[in-house]
Amino acid sequence: MDTLQQLVLSTLNATEIIEDTRRLNIPEEFGSPNDQETQLALQGALNSLQSKDMISYNINEQIVHVLTPEGSQIAREGSHEARVWSAAPFKGEHSPLKLSDLKIKVGEDTSKIGQGRAFKNGWIGKEGDGIVKLMRSIDDKTQVELQEIESYGTLKAGDKALAEVRKRKLAIQRKYLWFTVKKGANFRSEIEKLETDLTVEMLSSGSWKTSKYKKYNFDAEGTPTNGGALHPLLKVREEFRNIFFEMGFAEMPTSNYVESGFWNFDALFVPQQHPARDLQDTFYLSEDPSTSLDPPSELYSKVATIHSIGGNGSTGYRAPFLKTESTKLLLRTHTTARSANMLYDIANQPGGFKPTKMFSIDRVFRNETMDATHLAEFHQVEGVVADRGLTLGDLIGFMQTFFGKMGITNLRFKPAYNPYTEPSLEIFAFHPALKKWVEIGNSGMFRPEMLEPLGLPSDVRVHGWGLSLERPTMIRYGINNIRTLVGHKVSIESVEKSSAVRF
Ligand code: PHE
Repeated sequence: MDTLQQLVLSTLNATEIIEDTRRLNIPEEFGSPNDQETQLALQGALNSLQSKDMISYNINEQIVHVLTPEGSQIAREGSHEARVWSAAPFKGEHSPLKLSDLKIKVGEDTSKIGQGRAFKNGWIGKEGDGIVKLMRSIDDKTQVELQEIESYGTLKAGDKALAEVRKRKLAIQRKYLWFTVKKGANFRSEIEKLETDLTVEMLSSGSWKTSKYKKYNFDAEGTPTNGGALHPLLKVREEFRNIFFEMGFAEMPTSNYVESGFWNFDALFVPQQHPARDLQDTFYLSEDPSTSLDPPSELYSKVATIHSIGGNGSTGYRAPFLKTESTKLLLRTHTTARSANMLYDIANQPGGFKPTKMFSIDRVFRNETMDATHLAEFHQVEGVVADRGLTLGDLIGFMQTFFGKMGITNLRFKPAYNPYTEPSLEIFAFHPALKKWVEIGNSGMFRPEMLEPLGLPSDVRVHGWGLSLERPTMIRYGINNIRTLVGHKVSIESVEKSSAVRF
């Protein structure tokens, strides 16, 4: 229960009207009644009662004087001149007080300020090189005035005297509010609890009909709402997406994390004996289900043939090719599984193949040892371009444009190996901060052994490239441990506060 509200109500109950809240007996815990905080607390209590129509009140203004720290000291200890007077011995009774000793007794400031006035008032006199009292007792008007101001905020002596005190910087003027309070239409001597919520219980018991409700306060500031925030990876992802869209790419649907061995590996001409397919590198599903439906049969036999026997000038792998490997379900190790699937759709769409540019940015999984920069999952940014007569020069030129849009202009390419591309190129960029060449991606021209079984016309060339989303994000936000970016140790606050990204 609010003490001030209760004080106002019980006073009103006894007296009908509170003419002047300055006469209220405000409990000491609120501080001095002259303090601004006390006034504000009182006005808050009145506002709250008035909003319930329990009271109404008028505001009155009064100018009050409040002592400065120097003024309070004088009210307590006497004026400077009185302190000088009291330090001096009475004329003829003792040897005079030397000025150097006065300074020590009353302090340098008081000694300096007090002497002049004490002489002028005839309180002290000079004798030899010291001072003596001339009066037995004095009337320290300044102290009395300041004590009056301290108690009443003003002086009976009037404005001139107040102006003098202000000039001496012993008091300052303050506006003081006081209130006249009357009973309102809903006056009660106790504060009733008003409902702020309509609850299920009130509805079912019917008490809502008789309950009293608190009025809406449309002037109240609401609590700040929490908005969602994009994770830094998603911010960088958005930038990559924009670059792809700008270059005329369409986004591939990649919302499935589970793929078959067929689409993740076989369709990409990854031999069934390839070490990447080992349990140590790939997560396989063990149940519910652990195998996929059969791949489209015509496609499957073409892929099986190219792997085991070869064709169109390729010798194939001449190694066993088993359906049980193809139908194993696994967490995709790259989004290139989806790219292969999309190329199959495009080759076999009504009206036949049309040139295409596609991209995806999504999560992939690898059974890797985890360390500061590697987790068992990451995001791949992948682009695929399919057209007639594309060359390696197109791929290189394209890379330069793509990375150039991120501000990476200095690129180098190094021959590499992928089972599904030939030639394959690792992409390196010069890192100005690290002052060295760092690998930023992997790329290549997809092999005919992959493209022909998918049904693409033989003059269609496809190039593709992939990079991780985590690496540029970590560089962009100056993060050097992946666990501060992904996983349960990431602070929500850092996510909410991470700045937007513009390449
Ligand atoms: N799939 C490759 C990887 O995981 C990236 C890539 C995509 C390479 C397309 C060439 C062509 O690194």
